[in-house]
Amino acid sequence: MTTKFISIQDAMKKARLSQAQSGSSKLGQAKGEVAVRGWVYRERGSNVLKFIVLRDSTNIIQCVLDKKDFEKQWSEIDKVQVEASVEIEGEIKEEKRAPSGYEIHAKKFTLVGESNEFPINKDLNEELLGDRRHLWLRSRKMSSILKIRSTVTGALHEYFRSKGFYEFQSPVLVPGGAEDGPTMFEVKYFNKKMFLTQTWQLYAEAAIYALEKIYCIAPSFRAEQSKTSRHLTEYWHTEMEVAWADLDELMNYAEEMVKHVLSRVLEKNKPELEILERDWKKLEPSLKKKFPRVTYDEVLKELKSKHKMSVPWGKDLRTIEEEKFMDSYDTPVFCTMYPKEIMAFYKPRDKKNPKVARCFDMLGPESMGELIGGSERDTDLEELKKSLKAKGEKLEDYQYYFDVHSYGAVPHGGFGLGTERLVRWICGLETIKDAIAFPRTMTRYYP
Ligand code: 4AD
Ligand code: MG
Repeated sequence: MTTKFISIQDAMKKARLSQAQSGSSKLGQAKGEVAVRGWVYRERGSNVLKFIVLRDSTNIIQCVLDKKDFEKQWSEIDKVQVEASVEIEGEIKEEKRAPSGYEIHAKKFTLVGESNEFPINKDLNEELLGDRRHLWLRSRKMSSILKIRSTVTGALHEYFRSKGFYEFQSPVLVPGGAEDGPTMFEVKYFNKKMFLTQTWQLYAEAAIYALEKIYCIAPSFRAEQSKTSRHLTEYWHTEMEVAWADLDELMNYAEEMVKHVLSRVLEKNKPELEILERDWKKLEPSLKKKFPRVTYDEVLKELKSKHKMSVPWGKDLRTIEEEKFMDSYDTPVFCTMYPKEIMAFYKPRDKKNPKVARCFDMLGPESMGELIGGSERDTDLEELKKSLKAKGEKLEDYQYYFDVHSYGAVPHGGFGLGTERLVRWICGLETIKDAIAFPRTMTRYYP
């Protein structure tokens, strides 16, 4: 008969159940045979006993191997190194002193894959951990982040689908940009030049005329020269676009989406947040309170009155200003109505106050900076052309985009969330690089 392996988490559950059934909670009374497999997380031994803390994707558990039960295999067991893959069968019982509260007394041991000396230890700096990222992923820190990230993307899909959105994909290779600045990666495309997409937006605007409510989670690329804790050159962009929506509705979606993600993470990932030593109570206000909505003008006023910082009207907010402003808030804040001239070409002027655009940024608390950028979209072709020209763009590159809004244009809008920025905030990470398995920045592109 083949052995039925179960996960470490299930093995502990089984032990708990059999303990409950035996009607006693005294130490050492939960009995049960289990077979588990995974990787050696830690090992230590004497000449009579070997302790292996075994790790699988679900948890860790201490296993004890007694030399007298393994005479023939002892030299193999004695030499086993961290990260070797092994199978262990034995009896599980509660053991308060063991790392996860349970212990397996091994009866059978199989070495599946030997390990070389694992080149990761406590003394490695961030650079070396980056070089060995392919191995560092196995750490409790990285695996906890990756589990939370999976909850986050799952919850994003769940949110949009529950609201009647279709998932819609756009090309990665594009003829031109949509966002300002020299942040496009060029790609040799046969004998032409193409770019890696910064946003799906211009294609999404075409598609809302067919599907009305759409979303996507896909890579976006930005040739960011900056080395900050919040910029990647390749990131997963969660974008949505809706027909007939105005700015308030867009912000409602953004707020509800973030709250949905937070509630899923708090429901599923408290053990991981604890491994990360993330004080998850700091996330609770964002679940309960409404996110404030303030205009750019109000932000300038508040910066001046509370923090003695004066920003000339018309200048974009710098990181330091955003952070100072956010110091007074424990939830994300929508900052709306930025000066039109410094905004991307597609953000429409406000009719009542033509100096500003109908747009928002959602700023995160705890110095996380911009999490989301969104806006209504301009459907006035003359305005669009004027803005593009002012930014030095060639109008012929945007012909299809003008065409899109020439057949039954409707009010519409959307937003883009930096998925890693959300993961970074939820996990409370120092740097955005840890919010993705294999980060890409100006200086980090291997492995
Ligand atoms: O503010 P951005 O540039 O807006 C757009 O691209 C719009 N077209 C989105 C839309 O309306 N569909 O980018 C949106 C979000 C930012 O708020 C930020 O969270 C994230 O994308 N982002 C980055 N994340 C990581 N690394 C970078 N270099 C990022 N640049 C933007
Ligand atoms: Mg932005």
